[in-house]
Amino acid sequence: MSKPHLISLSLIPPPMSHVVVAGAGVIGLSIAHQLLLQNSKIQKVTIIAKDFPHDLLTCEYTSPWAGAHFRPYPHKPESWENDAREANYTRVTQQFFEKFAALNPDSTIKFSKGTDFLEAPSKEYLELGSGYNADSLKEFKVLEKLPDGVKFGAEYLTFCLDAPEYLKFLQNAIEQLCKLQNIQLQFVKLTLPSLKYIKELYPDVSLIFNATANGLQYNGSYDPACFKIRGQTLLLNVTQPTPYNRKTITHQSKDGHWTFVIRRSATHYILGGTKQPGDDYPLPRESDTVKILSRASKVFPDLDTSDIIRVNVGFRPARRGGSRVDKSLHEGLPVVHAYGLGGSGFETSVGVAKHALELAGLGRLESKL
Ligand SMILES: Cc1cc2nc3c(=O)[nH]c(=O)nc-3n(C[C@H](O)[C@H](O)[C@H](O)COP(=O)(O)OP(=O)(O)OC[C@H]3O[C@@H](n4cnc5c(N)ncnc54)[C@H](O)[C@@H]3O)c2cc1C
Ligand SMILES: *[C@@H]1O[C@H](CO)[C@@H](O)[C@H](O)[C@H]1NC(C)=O
Ligand SMILES: *[C@@H]1O[C@H](CO)[C@@H](O)[C@H](O)[C@H]1NC(C)=O
Ligand SMILES: *[C@@H]1O[C@H](CO)[C@@H](O)[C@H](O)[C@H]1NC(C)=O
Ligand SMILES: *[C@@H]1O[C@H](CO)[C@@H](O)[C@H](O)[C@H]1NC(C)=O
Repeated sequence: MSKPHLISLSLIPPPMSHVVVAGAGVIGLSIAHQLLLQNSKIQKVTIIAKDFPHDLLTCEYTSPWAGAHFRPYPHKPESWENDAREANYTRVTQQFFEKFAALNPDSTIKFSKGTDFLEAPSKEYLELGSGYNADSLKEFKVLEKLPDGVKFGAEYLTFCLDAPEYLKFLQNAIEQLCKLQNIQLQFVKLTLPSLKYIKELYPDVSLIFNATANGLQYNGSYDPACFKIRGQTLLLNVTQPTPYNRKTITHQSKDGHWTFVIRRSATHYILGGTKQPGDDYPLPRESDTVKILSRASKVFPDLDTSDIIRVNVGFRPARRGGSRVDKSLHEGLPVVHAYGLGGSGFETSVGVAKHALELAGLGRLESKL
């Protein structure tokens, strides 16, 4: 590295020497990953979390339970601004993944066809509103041939990934990038009582990313706008060739149920699911499993559901008014928040990370990818 001219020193911002990321879900890890791909002015990165990708799964750590795929929806009039912002995050993520997946097959990211079937489509779907049309989605097509009871169908280019494996991949990529660039890296397993506590632990901290899903405030306690949406899904073992290897399908029934199948690996599939706001039951519920299987037998009659490896329960970290990606100052210490991504933390991850880095003043530097 060449030394900067002394004369320009006062003009450049102080180096962000020690960056602390609170949270090691897909959001925290994506922020660290994008930071390391984009910026070399960092000396130290510390990631603090109570759960990491290699730990035993708990239902409080949402990321490993995700499908996970990209499923767009048209902006709704009542939440237009937020929907537009989150839709942009998904497009940034997809664009990044297109190149990244080709270079990193072990990331588990696979591009495929995504299909939506709706029994009671809103006006925004029928009119191909913003966020849900060929201007905004690749390979977008309205389908003419529809299954029984379905009033609207469309397909587009999507991606899916194996959530637990992708998280481990990200953690590993972070380690490699730090090694390569001689950046000190620490993973610290700790339950933070508050964000303030980070400053006490690391007096040299120059920037904090708050990616605790619906956890922590500067003085402790939680963002009162956050709430959880329970999701139960089934992990299936399907060893026979199946069309679901090449497409994900989401079926929305007129009574509001979502049934979807998402490829995880050559033989594993996620069949979902439930969306239960305010339901905090952490264990699999037999009655939910029965309902999912019964819907699947009608919607996906050709899917072999005989071998259920595991029943998953996760809690989507939602927030009234939508996700929060912004910055605040606490006694001069910048804190960038990135949480409340609800049911779309994977599809928005890279866009959220890039936005968070921009807010921190770290985002516009040349990319090393
Ligand atoms: C059934 C289901 C299906 C889903 N399908 C999809 C999908 O298809 N596509 C998609 O994009 N998304 C999907 N999601 C949503 C996705 O899983 C979430 O949006 C995402 O995981 C949120 O990531 P996160 O990093 O914010 O939170 P988390 O993964 O929960 O991570 C939070 C991190 O913060 C840490 N933490 C919290 N509080 C503290 C504290 N006090 N001290 C220290 N550490 C703390 C935790 O230990 C953890 O490391 C699905 C979710 C569910 C449940
Ligand atoms: C989304 O991105 C488009 C294209 O870059 C831009 O015109 C639009 O303002 C963005 N919307 C939001 C809400 O950021
Ligand atoms: C939270 O912490 C900040 C910084 O230490 C302090 O100024 C503020 O008074 C605290 N607020 C509450 C509600 O405790
Ligand atoms: C950090 O994020 C949490 C949600 O995880 C939120 O409740 C809290 O308000 C944020 N912290 C601060 C200092 O705002
Ligand atoms: C999946 O099914 C195949 C064939 O029946 C079996 O050999 C394999 O062990 C199963 N895998 C898991 C993870 O259950």
